[in-house]
Amino acid sequence: MDVIHLSAECYPVAKVGGLGDVVGALPKYLTQAGINASVILPYYDRKFVQENKFDEVFNSSAAAAGKTFNYSVLKEKTGKLGFDLYLIYIKGLLDRKEIYCYPDEIKQFISYQVSVVDWISKSEKKPDIIHCHDHHSGLVPFLISHSTLYKELAKIPTICTIHNGQYQGWLGWDKVGYLPSIDLNKAGLLDWNNCINSLAASVKCCWKFTTVSPNYLKELSVNSNGLEKLFQLEEKKGIGIINGIDTQVWNPESDPMISPNYNVETVDKGKKSNKKILCKEFELSDTKPLVVFIGRLVGEKGAELLPAAIDSCLKFYKGKVNFIVLGSGEPEIEKELENLKIKHRKQCGIYIGYDEELSHRIYAGADFLLMPSRVEPCGLNQLYAVRYGTMPIVHNTGGLSDTVIDVDDVAGYGITFDKLEVKEIVDAVGRALDLYQNSSRMCNLRKKMMSLDFSWDKSAKEYIDLYKSLIKPYAV
Ligand code: ADP
Ligand code: GLC
Repeated sequence: MDVIHLSAECYPVAKVGGLGDVVGALPKYLTQAGINASVILPYYDRKFVQENKFDEVFNSSAAAAGKTFNYSVLKEKTGKLGFDLYLIYIKGLLDRKEIYCYPDEIKQFISYQVSVVDWISKSEKKPDIIHCHDHHSGLVPFLISHSTLYKELAKIPTICTIHNGQYQGWLGWDKVGYLPSIDLNKAGLLDWNNCINSLAASVKCCWKFTTVSPNYLKELSVNSNGLEKLFQLEEKKGIGIINGIDTQVWNPESDPMISPNYNVETVDKGKKSNKKILCKEFELSDTKPLVVFIGRLVGEKGAELLPAAIDSCLKFYKGKVNFIVLGSGEPEIEKELENLKIKHRKQCGIYIGYDEELSHRIYAGADFLLMPSRVEPCGLNQLYAVRYGTMPIVHNTGGLSDTVIDVDDVAGYGITFDKLEVKEIVDAVGRALDLYQNSSRMCNLRKKMMSLDFSWDKSAKEYIDLYKSLIKPYAV
């Protein structure tokens, strides 16, 4: 079975967050399970692309954004990622350093999607499934069914996976000319609230949509940045499949980014040594419990509560806790965190920016990982934390509710809180500090966390079952 994944991100080629992790891992595990999975990404002028060799396997021209443009398809030569990786190159549009935030982002992703569809239509061998991730490939299910040029592709089943329903790829109807010629009777399928909404179009036109946790599927019907009604209507088409983690990349026993490596037997000693190095780097004492935050500094992550929550913790639990924050995002939050560092120099380490290696060292060296997310479709940080024996402290929402059980339960290994407010965060940190005092319980909980299985094995199988259910009618 040939399955192609369309996405804006794929680790290690291009990653901003969890979307990159998932699209870098799921196809690998699908391939190991016998599926011929590949990823088609926009071309980015980034380290992985510069350092690896690619063959041009196709070139042609297509029309988007009112213009005919040339595109080429490059294939990574070695298959070293565990799946075939293709990049769509368009000079001046898909050859950029960053993934998002260009003023003509709409053109960028429409041209990417049109090129992909055009390439598939001109290729002899068609995929059995087209699997689209988030809004950046959200127009593809519509294009292959209702664009007059690509109609012969309409029988290919499409799946849309929603990693983040907050961003929807909106464009005004005045930009409809950006798309190749479409069946205007079907234009309503593109519309939501009087504008073209790529994510809504994807949900309407795909054969099945998935969310990255079962709980998030339920939440979308009541909280999805304006698409609530759509998710209520399309509920039956949706399936919640929890993300896995790439246990080869995220393995404290072999992770080349941490030192020393450790396993479930050596977790206490191993984490202690990692913590020592990490704290030295941030000029913090390594004898105190260390609570960390890693992530995008945006409202979805509850990041605007961090400065006040950390400040209160450092007052209430004076001398009893240290914090490290790694992240970037809204300038105001970044500034408040920088000020916090000045105020609490000896208790608080702040790194504003993106640093993959540092994130691994933090997962390994921390005692607790705080996730006060307001919206969390799945969340991978808590799964990485658990894998490294670091206890998650999470707001009970989305995928966090599906993956973290509170220590008050016999099966528990994390700390959860229900209301997203500073006081609840401070109380939750207080519970963590009490637990930390009981070193034998803490040690048992670390071993318990490290023994949990959040690998892709189970979830990849659920995707395969879904693929099979869609191609079946055509296979017989
Ligand atoms: P989201 O995709 O919403 O940002 P996830 O929890 O699914 O959240 O995934 C976040 C991923 O991005 C994790 O791999 C996390 O370690 C990584 N990450 C987030 N911010 C940073 C950062 N500033 N530096 C390094 N890694 C980061
Ligand atoms: C999104 C979500 C996050 C999820 C990730 C991977 O960015 O915000 O919760 O883990 O995608 O699916």
